[in-house]
Amino acid sequence: MTDRILLVGATGFLGRAVAARLADRNAIALVRSTSDRSALPKRMELREGELAQPLPLADVDTLVYCASMGFGQVPGLVHQLQTEGIVRRAIFVSTTAIFTSLPSASRAVRVAAEAAVQASALDWTILRPTMIYGTARDRNICRLLRFVNRWPVFPLCGNALWQPIYVDDLADAVVATLDSPSTSHTAYNLAGAEPLTFADLIRTSARAVGRRILLLPVPLEAAVLAARLTRVVSSEQIRRLAENKAFSIADAVRDFNFAPRSFADGVRREAESLGLAPSPRRG
Ligand SMILES: NC(=O)c1ccc[n+]([C@@H]2O[C@H](COP(=O)([O-])OP(=O)(O)OC[C@H]3O[C@@H](n4cnc5c(N)ncnc54)[C@H](OP(=O)(O)O)[C@@H]3O)[C@@H](O)[C@H]2O)c1
Repeated sequence: MTDRILLVGATGFLGRAVAARLADRNAIALVRSTSDRSALPKRMELREGELAQPLPLADVDTLVYCASMGFGQVPGLVHQLQTEGIVRRAIFVSTTAIFTSLPSASRAVRVAAEAAVQASALDWTILRPTMIYGTARDRNICRLLRFVNRWPVFPLCGNALWQPIYVDDLADAVVATLDSPSTSHTAYNLAGAEPLTFADLIRTSARAVGRRILLLPVPLEAAVLAARLTRVVSSEQIRRLAENKAFSIADAVRDFNFAPRSFADGVRREAESLGLAPSPRRG
């Protein structure tokens, strides 16, 4: 009998890329009545459900969870999985944000969610991506690309290390994990090919849209004060900008041949998908 996979979060930024990969594998997409289903593969079975309620798990033996673990529903879901006892294998997508040393409203919820998964009798794997980018649906790099395409100067606040992961590389990792029994009972940090400084991240993004950029260093505390006064971004967001976000991917490389692309490659693809890549002449 073929495994029946239920994909939770199928209509999200990551979930759509995972859905495209699981559509031919007898997977079912969990959707809400309000979900935008237009990006899901036509041949994929849809099943209505809502994380605030027990999930419709009849005939499902594998769960792929691409919704947030930060809303408090995971311990209840783990309880349901264990009580009903049909689902054995479960992949959960968490986040490297659980390692932040800054105050975070959702950190404790996420840590408790991971703990519930790890204490369960499930055959679990946890994947913790860094910031995910790629396509117009990402919430950060596409805004940065539009900014550097428009403005010649960028305020540089701190010069922390970043290591964003391209959405397709993460979706490939989700599928590779499903196919790699050695990933059982393990949590993996997943990031791009190599860390780069914030300055290099901005410069590489500017290059991807064919622009030069002048970086204007701004002291962290001044930026925090400006954030407080203008309320355009929160002071926590500014402090997070200046926190190192580089992670070793060695375990994932060893266990399931994780081979993410470089930021230069990923951001060039994203610029192309946004129609911001330079024409050959402008370059
Ligand atoms: N985006 C990032 O940069 C980033 C970075 C690190 C980690 N992550 C983690 O990666 C995972 C995927 O992130 P994402 O950016 O793809 O998320 P997203 O775009 O916000 O998608 C969330 C998905 O969860 C579904 N969902 C939300 N609440 C639900 C509920 N109550 N019941 C059923 N489904 C519900 C949404 O359905 P609807 O379409 O109906 O809203 C959507 O399919 C999450 O665990 C996130 O924490 C993301």
